[in-house]
Amino acid sequence: MNKGNVSVQKWPASSRVFHWISALLLLVTWLLMLMYSYDESKVYLGLHKAFGISVLFWMIARVINRVFVKAPPSVPMPKWQTIIAHLTHFALYALLIAMPIAGLLMSVYGGRPVDMFGLFQIPVFVTPDRGMARFYNDVHTEIIWPMIIAFTVAHIGAALYHQFIKKDNLMKRM
Ligand code: HEM
Ligand code: HEM
Repeated sequence: MNKGNVSVQKWPASSRVFHWISALLLLVTWLLMLMYSYDESKVYLGLHKAFGISVLFWMIARVINRVFVKAPPSVPMPKWQTIIAHLTHFALYALLIAMPIAGLLMSVYGGRPVDMFGLFQIPVFVTPDRGMARFYNDVHTEIIWPMIIAFTVAHIGAALYHQFIKKDNLMKRM
């Protein structure tokens, strides 16, 4: 196949919407935590939690969608790159589900219900336990968050490599 003639096979519209809204929700959740780190307002923390739980709901819906849609055939690339890409994608799905669960467990073990934009509350469904709250705090901030950064940087780096160095139109798929 000649690179220049390959017509781009896109992901289905549903997958593209799930992908870009996930990225947007992640960005907003992170920005709210950044704002909270400058100004310890409960408003930012509350919104961080509500957007974080939204990431969880969105990712569950995204995984269900992923089971039913057909992925476009991979762009030609060395086999090791396809394997690394698939592992990275799988890690991002797992991390974006584990992160809000750890946040939720941190909150409820701390004895705090989670308010979802004033629409409904997730109640404290465990017996509050300071040790467990601290454990999930560490998992949230010291284990999963650095992994999200690492895999996201690798993912965006790979997208830029395809866009500007390989110039194979991979980005158009998503
Ligand atoms: C994908 C979703 C989420 C992401 C990406 C995320 C990200 C973060 C980040 C980057 C921090 C700061 C870590 C640091 O101090 O360096 C943080 C802290 C925190 N997150 Fe999340 N979070 C998410 C979901 C949640 C959820 C659902 C809750 C609770 C329901 C939550 C509760 C908290 C709390 C309470 C802190 C403050 C911890 C502290 O100050 O010690 N997060 N989160
Ligand atoms: C500027 C930012 C981003 C760009 C340019 C981008 C680009 C892409 C592209 C082109 C694909 C399709 C790869 C292919 O068809 O082989 C893809 C897939 C994917 N992206 Fe991103 N992405 C970005 C941000 C993110 C973020 C922030 C996340 C989550 C943390 C993410 C998670 C995923 C996942 C999980 C897949 C795999 C989809 C699947 O196989 O079901 N992306 N991305």
